[in-house]
This record gives sequence, structure tokens and C-alpha cells, in this order.
Amino acid sequence: MTVVKSTIPESARQVTGEALQSTLVDLLGLSLIGKQAHWNIVGPRFRSIHLQLDEVVAAAREFADTVAERASALGLPPDGRPETIASAFTLPGPKDGWVRDTDVVEVMVESLEAAISRLRERIEATATPDPVTQDLLITITAELEKQRWMFAAENVSRED
Ligand SMILES: [Fe+2]
Repeated sequence: MTVVKSTIPESARQVTGEALQSTLVDLLGLSLIGKQAHWNIVGPRFRSIHLQLDEVVAAAREFADTVAERASALGLPPDGRPETIASAFTLPGPKDGWVRDTDVVEVMVESLEAAISRLRERIEATATPDPVTQDLLITITAELEKQRWMFAAENVSRED
């Protein structure tokens, strides 16, 4: 069923649709692991990391909405169902139960780095098919790189 007609040619739709859908999965998953860590973090750095995690969640939710709506605008129906996220999400996240502050920082750096490297591949892939989507992916990458920096800066120990 074609409801919304696309403004980009058929040849560009597949790569653009895949880039947007996989970014949507990564961002929704990131918002879930961010909250999981926000609720379960323990340790002396609880307060600052607890708050920092909500910044990641807010950015991930906001951009998830933007990429999903970009897909819709191109006539590509986004899929943000929980079963889709559960089967397609591949970024690292916290284990279940309480998580030490130091482990939270480590896993968030790893997770954000994985998300960023996947985004950078999609930036290359969408350059010609749809530079407008590419521009959006660049904006998202800049924000996730900022978040990764903040966790990485938290991760420097006294011995480093
Ligand atoms: Fe909260």
C-alpha cells in the first residue's frame, strides 16, 4: 500500500530507508539502555552520571522521532515496535540489576562509540541517494559524539 508518495527516486529509497530504520532502532534502544542505567546505577558518582544518562535519553528520543518522521516524509513507514527493537538492536548495554557507576560509564562509552561508527557508515551511504537524510544523520552523530566525550571524560582514573 503506497499512502505517502516519495519525493526521492525508487533507486534511492532502499538505502535511505535502511539508514533511517537502523538509526531508529539504535536510538530507541539507546534510550532504553540509558534509562535502564539511570535507574540501576550505584556508587559514589551516582548523581552526576544519573543526570548525564537522562541527557542521552532525551537526545535519543528526540532524534528517534526526527528520523522516524523523515522516513514517513519519504513514504517509508518507520517501524518502532518493541519486538522490532528487541530483535534488531545490537549495541552494548548494561547487565540486569544494579550497575556500578564505573561500569555504567564504560558501557555507555562503548555503546555510543558503536552507535557513532554505524552512523558514520550511513552518512557515507546516504551522501548521493539522499543528502537531506545524510544531513540529519550528521546532526545526530555530532550529538552522540558530544555525549560520548562526556562519558569518556568521566572515565579517566587517577592513574591515567
Ligand atoms: Fe529519572
